[in-house]
Amino acid sequence: MSKKELGIYIHIPFCKQKCYYCDFVSFANRTNCVKEYIESLIKEIENYKLEEYIVTTIYIGGGTPSYIESKYIEKIINKIKEKFEIDNQCEITIEVNPGTVTKQKLEKYKESGINRISIGLQTIDNNLLKQIGRIHTYEEFIKTYKDAQIVGLKNINIDLIIGIPNQKLEDIEKEIKEVIKLNPNHISTYSLIVEEGTILEQKIQKKEYKLPSEEVEREMYWYIKKELEKNGYIHYEISNFSKKDKMSKHNKNCWEQKEYIGLGVAAHSYIDNIRYSNIEDIEKYISNIKSKNFQKNVIIQERQTAEDKKKEYMLLGLRKIEGVSIREFKNKFNENPLFKFKEELEKLKKDKLIEIQKDKIKLTNEGIDLANIVWEEFV
Ligand SMILES: C[S@@+](CC[C@H](N)C(=O)[O-])C[C@H]1O[C@@H](n2cnc3c(N)ncnc32)[C@H](O)[C@@H]1O
Ligand code: SF4
Repeated sequence: MSKKELGIYIHIPFCKQKCYYCDFVSFANRTNCVKEYIESLIKEIENYKLEEYIVTTIYIGGGTPSYIESKYIEKIINKIKEKFEIDNQCEITIEVNPGTVTKQKLEKYKESGINRISIGLQTIDNNLLKQIGRIHTYEEFIKTYKDAQIVGLKNINIDLIIGIPNQKLEDIEKEIKEVIKLNPNHISTYSLIVEEGTILEQKIQKKEYKLPSEEVEREMYWYIKKELEKNGYIHYEISNFSKKDKMSKHNKNCWEQKEYIGLGVAAHSYIDNIRYSNIEDIEKYISNIKSKNFQKNVIIQERQTAEDKKKEYMLLGLRKIEGVSIREFKNKFNENPLFKFKEELEKLKKDKLIEIQKDKIKLTNEGIDLANIVWEEFV
């Protein structure tokens, strides 16, 4: 029997400084427990027994994985290779943050088998970078980008955020020109989310910062799409663009409801129709592993019924610009999505949020702008 595909996500919850907008599970000033954390992560990997799977993607995210010493990243990758069967074409990505990464670290990543890096730039404007609590300048980003190319890490993603306080459409026009000049394989553009409890939220509430209007934010988005498409990028998911054949396998697998395991605090897993996550507390995570109480680190989020799975498949699939394939839905669930979700789809079609073209159910441009309303139909 052929093996099932598996993705692995590794969470490194350490950052040099907390960015004002970020509510990811990541902590500044916690370097004291890095060693113990990695030892626990290694034990968590050892505790998995998934012989019927072959690993096709590994994603080391955070937090800032490039903030910790590269020997820890090597240890993690070596342990995964020892414990799991790894596909020859396995995509191995690490998130790096300018200001925490050196050429030596990048060389070590390359040696350990990493073949894709994702660099958090967010914006090329040094004033805006400072204003959102980033630790680096645009010039430092350029150094990281060039170093990565020099060591042979050529498959690069750049993360950008749009809709930053005081950001103008002209800033985005300049930014996208600069980014296109660098010619990365992949670009992610996230619309700024003002998360509860963040410094950013406080500053907006106190009227220290003013967000661009929603209209301007949408103009930025559609401008980026137009420019990137003009320059050979494929818009393949609401926030993601790539050169041909350079889509992120890791992302694609998530949107196609493929199985993955997440290791480390707060990491999410989806396997055997169960969605679960690890606890967020680093101390508890380490102590549960020390006492071999692996199950105590796990919180079950959802045991999916067949119905849940079909709805989720639509919700995830509609994130992709190409949409959900009716044929693939039928193959997977033995049912036609056009009948299964007749009411929901008719309503969305009437509101011009989706369209049905040959084999595909996909978002319209209005649907892309109002994606949250579309998701609600499948929750
Ligand atoms: C988990 S972060 C890790 C990357 C790395 N630590 C860094 O910041 O460069 C992944 C990406 O999510 C995006 N992100 C994080 N918080 C966000 C927010 N509140 N709104 C929009 N995008 C956000 C940023 O683009 C960031 O690069
Ligand atoms: S955006 Fe990245 S660097 Fe900033 S706090 Fe979040 S995880 Fe850390």
